[in-house]
Amino acid sequence: MNILVTGGAGYIGSHTCVALLEAGHTVIVADNLSNSKAATIEKVKQITNKEITFYHMDMTDELVNTIFSNHNIDGVIHFAGLKSVGESAEKPLDYYYNNIVSTMVIAKACQKFNVNRFVFSSSATVYGDNKVPFVETYDLLPTTNPYGETKAMSERILTDIAMANPAFSVSLLRYFNPVGAHESGLIGEAPNGIPNNLMPYITQVAKRKLEKLRVFGNDYITMDGTGVRDYIHIMDLAEGHVAALNNLTEGVHIYNLGTGQGTSVLELIKAFEEANGIEVPYEIVDRRPGDIASCFADTSKARQELGWIVKRDITEMCRDAWRFEKNYK
Ligand code: NAD
Ligand code: UD1
Repeated sequence: MNILVTGGAGYIGSHTCVALLEAGHTVIVADNLSNSKAATIEKVKQITNKEITFYHMDMTDELVNTIFSNHNIDGVIHFAGLKSVGESAEKPLDYYYNNIVSTMVIAKACQKFNVNRFVFSSSATVYGDNKVPFVETYDLLPTTNPYGETKAMSERILTDIAMANPAFSVSLLRYFNPVGAHESGLIGEAPNGIPNNLMPYITQVAKRKLEKLRVFGNDYITMDGTGVRDYIHIMDLAEGHVAALNNLTEGVHIYNLGTGQGTSVLELIKAFEEANGIEVPYEIVDRRPGDIASCFADTSKARQELGWIVKRDITEMCRDAWRFEKNYK
């Protein structure tokens, strides 16, 4: 299939391009490079030895129609979006505009050009502070930040479009915590500035770029008091998109993409130290506002309906994250 990957130069998008190309699909990437570099596309080509057509374009601009005119698009994976929870509280309008308008512009182009396969990047954040493991049938709780609201709203918009047009097939993928990098070490997660997320913070402490990790709270009701999350290897997540695309049928389908395993902050630090033989200094500080104690997936639906299972464990996540960071300039 000819797949338009919006945000394909970003972290999850670039790894998904690798998985799509390896599965035999043709990939067209559109990205405004607001949080990524064109060089990443070159790395994806190098890894796969395949071509990619790249458009430097903003997905809120109706110019995206030209991509649909130029290519016979069979499906879209819509990654393009702003993703920082903290920043979304400071710049809500930027988040609502970018994330919602892009979803509507792409969906409108799909309607116009009769493209009926749509895969959307949602987040486990839409579950709020619910009972773990999170199941796709849960009612969505209001999230505590504009970023989370843009994901919940985009889910609703796409659901309503599918209600109105029975031919439209949508897969809403709720990601848990993607970490790690492609096994080649050529592409990975390279956040701008000081990382907000745990794994890139750990790798930068390991590189001695940052002095020590701050562990946000050790008084949660979890096995060791620190926050528990469902870390998933980025290539497993990428392969989840190929499975979702290949199994897409009419209507709306929601899938958790996680491993189903909860890992605490202290457990992740230990796993990283053991996998790479490097000490990660840390201190316990206050909780981070907005954090929940535990977040992990019920993965049975994705397993049963998509035949998708994760293949890589926490040691590989730590090893691959470090391999990328070590080489990254
Ligand atoms: P990322 O920032 O690395 O990638 C997003 C890409 O979209 C970037 O290349 C950026 O330049 C591009 N982009 C943003 N706005 C755009 C626009 N208007 N037009 C064109 N390109 C635009 O982030 P990521 O981690 O790869 O996340 C991809 C998607 O998955 C996002 O929608 C994010 O909200 C969602 N998501 C990410 C996580 C995570 O932990 N990384 C978790 C849940 C959901
Ligand atoms: C965060 C976002 C979530 C988003 C996800 C992936 C918040 C509140 N949530 O999730 O919406 O989908 O990123 O982008 O920001 N931790 C530390 N020290 C650090 C960093 C993190 O102890 O320096 C802890 C956190 O308290 C948490 C765990 O590590 O328990 C994971 O944090 P993080 O990587 O930021 O992901 P989430 O909070 O799960």
